[in-house]
Amino acid sequence: MSFRYYKDNREYIEALRKSGDLVDIHEEVHWDLELGAIIRRVCEKKAPAAFFHKITDYPNFRAFGAPIATYRRLAVALGLEPETPIPKIAEEYTRRTKGQPIKPKIIDKKDAPCKEVILLGEDADLFDLLAPMVHDGDGGRYIGTWHFVVAKDLDTDFVNWGMYRQMVYDEKTMVGPILPFSDMGKMLTKYAAKNLLMPFATVIGPDPLSAIASSAPSPIDEVDFAGMLMGEPVELVKCETSDLYVPAHAEIIIEGVIIPNVLLDEAPFGEYTGYRTSPRDKRGVYRVRAITMRKDPIMTVSNMGTPTDEGQLLRSFTLGLEMERLLRDQGIPITGVYMWPESTHHLVVVGVKPIYANIATQIGQLVFGSKLGPWFHMVVVVDEGTDIYNKDEVIHALCTKCHPKRGIRIEEHGVGTPLNPFASPEERLYGRAPKVIFDCLFPPEWPKSMVPIKVSFENVYPKEIQEKVLANWKKYGFPD
Ligand SMILES: Cc1cc2nc3c(=O)[nH]c(=O)nc-3n(C[C@H](O)[C@H](O)[C@H](O)COP(=O)(O)O)c2cc1C
Repeated sequence: MSFRYYKDNREYIEALRKSGDLVDIHEEVHWDLELGAIIRRVCEKKAPAAFFHKITDYPNFRAFGAPIATYRRLAVALGLEPETPIPKIAEEYTRRTKGQPIKPKIIDKKDAPCKEVILLGEDADLFDLLAPMVHDGDGGRYIGTWHFVVAKDLDTDFVNWGMYRQMVYDEKTMVGPILPFSDMGKMLTKYAAKNLLMPFATVIGPDPLSAIASSAPSPIDEVDFAGMLMGEPVELVKCETSDLYVPAHAEIIIEGVIIPNVLLDEAPFGEYTGYRTSPRDKRGVYRVRAITMRKDPIMTVSNMGTPTDEGQLLRSFTLGLEMERLLRDQGIPITGVYMWPESTHHLVVVGVKPIYANIATQIGQLVFGSKLGPWFHMVVVVDEGTDIYNKDEVIHALCTKCHPKRGIRIEEHGVGTPLNPFASPEERLYGRAPKVIFDCLFPPEWPKSMVPIKVSFENVYPKEIQEKVLANWKKYGFPD
């Protein structure tokens, strides 16, 4: 079954324009910080996405900033009404992604808009592409902030799509972090062991669902996952210089090879945690061999920083749902999982039926022990009477049910990332991080008569009184 979706970024931009979630900027804007500053403010004010029509020095380019930095835009990307509530968006995402993988379809080069311009060899020059200086203090101009990198495993058919930031180093070189626990990091280890060049293709300005799939913790190949989100195969076209395939309707493709065992300076960069944490350091090297693109390309830009940016919103959403799947597969009686984007996906809220003692510890250990564990540091476990999407309710549970001594369990030796602002410089260097579980459950072994009773409208009034009050609410003179 095909869902309402947008085949390319342009159709998505048009849908956002129609729903009032995009602002067209016709004033000339400079790529050196001005464009970044506008997008930053858009993120912090949760304003509509920014579409730039005129950019200094790049008459041929337009730019699209903060593409999916609000839940309204995520709903539009999925073909839903913009005001769809978060649990409903989650329900739809889960429904689409639990069926059969949908394999991509290969199309002819002549039908692929990303091949309108083909630049090979000397003609493939990164300086000809609009790469903004996103934040003051960044180590360079970032070309890959809302994009993904395609690479293929050396021994199997597994093809990975992952969003890994890329900075322009020179006309032919990009640099960026390739974290060892990421799928591409694991692939690169195999090439590096044999000292082989690893082909890559950077896809800039993909359709929104392919972008979501590439940044999601997908248990299957991301191209099939994107197909499931669309309910249709993604259309791919072959690269010019390798056997990789890329979405035919993307804006810009940069092809080349990752040079193993060679590192160059990258960063600093404003990151998803809302800080500039990683220092300038030696990181992965992408050498460019070809650029293909549309005649009038649209550069997509995500400006990471204080909430809410795409990384925070999408990763909170998709990591949370993947974690929910994992806990359910383990038979844990959970009622839901959610992460607020403002937690920069550090804090996982899990709702559970507390049917046996220490279930919160078991949940925390599974969350931290999973493949996704390096991205989380705090787990708050609440019972089914707490709405996990409601901050007020979760804070109330945390402050009234979590025992400050036995309710807080700390694991000192967890896996982290080099990006944790709270980690010591040494912990960051080695990707180590402590983890904490907040058990907000009254122990099931307490005698029933000793369990405090929650005093809320829903909990302490008879059903018929509740119904009467709700039915008459407006009549009493209250707004909704
Ligand atoms: C806007 C954005 C930027 C990201 N940048 C990076 C990055 O530079 N490095 C990284 O390892 N992950 C980054 N991520 C997270 C990865 O996209 C994410 O881990 C993805 O699922 C790839 O996972 P995999 O390596 O397990 O395939 C970013 C995510 C988003 C939404």
